[in-house]
Amino acid sequence: MVSDYEKVKTIVDRYDGKHDSVIAILQDVQSEYHYLPEHALRVVASQLGLPLIQVCGVATFFKAFSLKPRGEHMVSVCLGTACHVRGASAVLDEVKRRLGIERGETTEDMRFTLETVNCLGACALGPIVVVNGKYHGQMSPGKVKKVLKKQKKEPPEG
Ligand code: FES
Repeated sequence: MVSDYEKVKTIVDRYDGKHDSVIAILQDVQSEYHYLPEHALRVVASQLGLPLIQVCGVATFFKAFSLKPRGEHMVSVCLGTACHVRGASAVLDEVKRRLGIERGETTEDMRFTLETVNCLGACALGPIVVVNGKYHGQMSPGKVKKVLKKQKKEPPEG
């Protein structure tokens, strides 16, 4: 079985140990673990010969990176003005009810993480729910079940 150390080292090796590949390396690590575990950041730093604080700095600077465990499927509900006036709050309530979590939380089985965002730039399609980067427009509470159920059948993208 491949150890976590080897897994992360293999990712770093793909980039020939180039310092300017830190962001790409962290993206790959996050795809593997769904977040950036501390042990992985340590391996990245040591393999690149960079101070750990520098790698952590990159990891905390970009909002796309998470230092907290996240679920296999990332669910983002838009609460921007246009989505809000079209009923995004009711959609969010239904997602919370079905997953049994609040925003910012991850289900116990580590399958779903729920977050809210403010405008995804596709207001005409609102209310919008994004799951693993895929946009689901004109959402309603009634469509939530189908969108979440779909994730059980499909492997996560990326
Ligand atoms: S307010 Fe939701 S996409 Fe703009």
